[in-house]
Amino acid sequence: MLKELLLKRRSVRNFLKKSMPKDLFDYLLWVSYGRVDGRLVVPSGGATYPIRVYAVLGDVEGLKPGVYRYNNMENSLSIHLERDVMRDLSRTCLNQRYVADASFNIVIAVNYPRITSVYGERGRRYAILEAGHIGQNIYLACAEKGLGTVAIGAFNDDLVARVLMLPSDVDPLYIFPVGYPAG
Ligand SMILES: Cc1cc2nc3c(=O)[nH]c(=O)nc-3n(C[C@H](O)[C@H](O)[C@H](O)COP(=O)(O)O)c2cc1C
Repeated sequence: MLKELLLKRRSVRNFLKKSMPKDLFDYLLWVSYGRVDGRLVVPSGGATYPIRVYAVLGDVEGLKPGVYRYNNMENSLSIHLERDVMRDLSRTCLNQRYVADASFNIVIAVNYPRITSVYGERGRRYAILEAGHIGQNIYLACAEKGLGTVAIGAFNDDLVARVLMLPSDVDPLYIFPVGYPAG
């Protein structure tokens, strides 16, 4: 089962222009940082949970384009920006067009003080490692559901923070465009 997903896992950079069903969108957010009983779907250094997850839409059934915050403890969404920023986000990612072509993007951001207050500078490393766990979950969930994604690390941090209007203590770490693979 896991082996099948690992065999299917790959980076996808060509997406169909197709609306994403809300249940699949919800599932992708849950696999990224959702809750299971008293813990989350990924490990976290010292259970500090410094990651913040944002969803940039795109074309998701029943939701307006814009930026949403994923409230992982309640598995709910709240609107953060009521504006379509898919193209602006793509520009901040060195014009990688698949960021704009996707149905939505999952933006993994981090509140470093939450973990450096416990571990000092080493906490930054722990937060980045945690984001790696999240990324693999997103890749495998896409493989499971017939969707595509690609890890995006090449972007201008300051510009992404500005486009998404992130709080001053939150930095973007990793971006995952998600959509239906073309071809
Ligand atoms: C930390 C990290 C950053 C990456 N950044 C980008 C990126 O900015 N743009 C991109 O197209 N692919 C990016 N990738 C995806 C890699 O190019 C891709 O994983 C690699 O070519 C292997 O292909 P595969 O994922 O299909 O096995 C990144 C991957 C990682 C792990």
